[in-house]
Amino acid sequence: MDGKLLELFPEIEEIKDTAIREKTLDTLTDAMKSGGWNYTDLDIVPFTLLIEGIGVSFRQHTRAVTQMAIACARIMDQQYREHYRINFDYLIAGAILHDVGKLLEYRRTDSGFVKSACGKLLRHPFSGAGLCTKHGLPDEVVHIVAVHAKEGAGGYRSPEAVAVHHADFINFEPLRDL
Ligand SMILES: [Fe+2]
Repeated sequence: MDGKLLELFPEIEEIKDTAIREKTLDTLTDAMKSGGWNYTDLDIVPFTLLIEGIGVSFRQHTRAVTQMAIACARIMDQQYREHYRINFDYLIAGAILHDVGKLLEYRRTDSGFVKSACGKLLRHPFSGAGLCTKHGLPDEVVHIVAVHAKEGAGGYRSPEAVAVHHADFINFEPLRDL
């Protein structure tokens, strides 16, 4: 159990299934190691390269998306439980990991952050889904990561994936349109 990562992403503690919680932490740790990032970098790496000088980090964005997806899913679960149920473990793991592939997609240079060679070939939904599969996360979690962005448009999204997708864009568009 990586206590430091739990401190940085306290929402992970809300995952009740121990195996999913461990695998979520393992996936984050693997992405950090593979991308060459340390804990401090999580507050420095921008959450997007699409907005210059954004000033919102990978960690801030990930936590905001996770908190918003949980809030959204609580209402979905209360209002529509006759129609479908939300699995909060899948939702939280998927939200925490939705952008984990960005830790492989970006690299640091002397003049700032740019796409890595891997990132040019595999956008973060692909590399993120691959990492989640590698660490044995359930398909329901891999699905959330795989379809959270434009790659998932037009196809099936589970209720948990819909919540994460919209939470992600709520945490992107107003900053983009400033
Ligand atoms: Fe995101």
